Amino acid sequence: MTHNLYHSFAIGNVHIPGNLFLAPLAGFTDVPFRTVCLQNGASLCWSEMVSAEALARGSVKTRLLMERSPGEDYLVIQIFLSHYSQALRALPVLLEYQPTVIDINCGCPVPKVVKTGAGSALMNRFNDAADIVRALTGETSVPVSVKIRSGWDSSSITCVEAARLAQAAGASFVTLHPRTRAQGYSGKADWNLLTQVKRELDIPVVGSGDVNSPEDARRMIETCGVDGIMIGRAAVGNPAIFARIRTFLEGQDIPPQPTDSELLDMITVHLDHQIEIKGEQAACREMRKHICAYTKGLPGSAALRAEIVHAESREAYLSILTQVLS
Ligand SMILES: Cc1cc2nc3c(=O)[nH]c(=O)nc-3n(C[C@H](O)[C@H](O)[C@H](O)COP(=O)(O)O)c2cc1C
Repeated sequence: MTHNLYHSFAIGNVHIPGNLFLAPLAGFTDVPFRTVCLQNGASLCWSEMVSAEALARGSVKTRLLMERSPGEDYLVIQIFLSHYSQALRALPVLLEYQPTVIDINCGCPVPKVVKTGAGSALMNRFNDAADIVRALTGETSVPVSVKIRSGWDSSSITCVEAARLAQAAGASFVTLHPRTRAQGYSGKADWNLLTQVKRELDIPVVGSGDVNSPEDARRMIETCGVDGIMIGRAAVGNPAIFARIRTFLEGQDIPPQPTDSELLDMITVHLDHQIEIKGEQAACREMRKHICAYTKGLPGSAALRAEIVHAESREAYLSILTQVLS
């Protein structure tokens, strides 16, 4: 039976209408991309990760990462930090942005972040992560969650213990990306760990890692029992994956991929929203990686890659895109 695999997701007293989430992807999940994903079936999106320390120090640039579009009713704001005192100092600014959830990043593998004791460094000091959750839940009624990895490396798989501590500290749910810090984004996500963490917890568990198709989404829910599915890399260039997964989880046939003209409309909406926010030149630079992803694998797109990478205007993009998406 697949019809009940798509369902609402309760976070405290907020009921998110569905259980298909856009993962936080630094450098990608800004307002325009999140908007396209929501228009194409994502139930809830995560912000890019935001430095709690920078917020506490009043960085204006960092605040921009927490902006949302008027129709974006729910937003998980993810922060990275190493110590609960930073969370408390950042909290007043965070609350100005009315996050649906404050999520604690315990997974970022990037050396610049890990060196400060944040991101996946917290997988080695999970008591500190639990202190962050406890400090925040003590100060605000906004739900708090954690996004964790399997552990630091294959000799230190700590996710089950970390998830238990997060629950005890008051987390509303846990997201697990079951790769170690040492794995980065390579190798396979170990979904067995999702099953284990789900078995241990009373709070909901969200699974992240290697959901690349509607079939993967169904398999993750059925085999691991997770309450929500997070899609990251597979949504880049392919926001329609959310609607396709939803239909499949509701027990119907997987809808076809968008037609060329639907894809062109989707990219144009994305590009125009980016231009509205950043101005044409900056928006076009920002859109390169997205447009490469949207057109990847389409006949003729490889030959146009050099043009895509050098496009500086809306007009240039649309002229390239109409060649690929006739
Ligand atoms: C470019 C990139 C940026 C990412 N940025 C973040 C981030 O800011 N915070 C976070 O918790 N995870 C981040 N992740 C991890 C993803 O949220 C996700 O857990 C991981 O990519 C596995 O899911 P996927 O196979 O669906 O991509 C990032 C991953 C990638 C590839």
